[in-house]
Amino acid sequence: MKASSINERLKQIWNTNAGHWVKAVRSGQIQSRKDTTNRAILDAVLSLEPVHILDMGCGEGWLVRKLVEISKCTAVGVDISSELIEAARLSDRSSTYLVLDYETITNNPASVEGQFDLIIFNYSLFDEDIIPILTACKRLLTVDGNLLIQTVHPLSMDGNNECENGWREENFNSFPSQGWQPMPWYYRTFDSWTDTIEQTGYGIVEYRESVNALSGKPVSLIFQLA
Ligand SMILES: C[S@@+](CC[C@H](N)C(=O)[O-])C[C@H]1O[C@@H](n2cnc3c(N)ncnc32)[C@H](O)[C@@H]1O
Repeated sequence: MKASSINERLKQIWNTNAGHWVKAVRSGQIQSRKDTTNRAILDAVLSLEPVHILDMGCGEGWLVRKLVEISKCTAVGVDISSELIEAARLSDRSSTYLVLDYETITNNPASVEGQFDLIIFNYSLFDEDIIPILTACKRLLTVDGNLLIQTVHPLSMDGNNECENGWREENFNSFPSQGWQPMPWYYRTFDSWTDTIEQTGYGIVEYRESVNALSGKPVSLIFQLA
């Protein structure tokens, strides 16, 4: 899929789903987040003691709000969905939230003002080709900066195709509300993640696997790049 066409689709899909998403996140409807992955990303961020954070694909802004509340950092959130940025701004007048997509940032990294010692993608990288946006992030990172990516653990998928890279569809069927628009996303294996990251020129400082405490099943992967 061409970058511009996936961008347009994701914009339309996330604007359509914005109301459902805000409710789902804020009322704790996403069990894996409550049980495991919110804590996992918070621990990964706090261990780095960042002072100025960029949250890429920030959605309705929970991570920015939480980090500013519990640490001494300042944070900027960017998202392709104007509806989600509006929701973020309404809940937090002090941080900066910008309507921006990865294609625009790739073409002009200066569209985000400032330098950040941490850039985070928390479940917000869906494209097949993520090399351009990850490479562009280098222009926004301080020399000793880090980049964190939390993503679906490649071994957490049910079905027959879990060992092959390829486009999948999230249909949001596990959410209680009806009327979500399905979203295409690109599944990649662990090896594909590491190969792709290698092509960006970042090194993998570490990766963490988060596991559901009850089932023992892997839920997410967090890569720390520098
Ligand atoms: C699953 S939500 C996660 C939101 C947030 N990071 C969180 O943890 O709740 C994915 C987010 O990525 C954003 N997104 C997807 N593709 C994007 C793109 N190309 N540019 C900017 N934001 C994008 C969506 O609008 C959506 O808010």
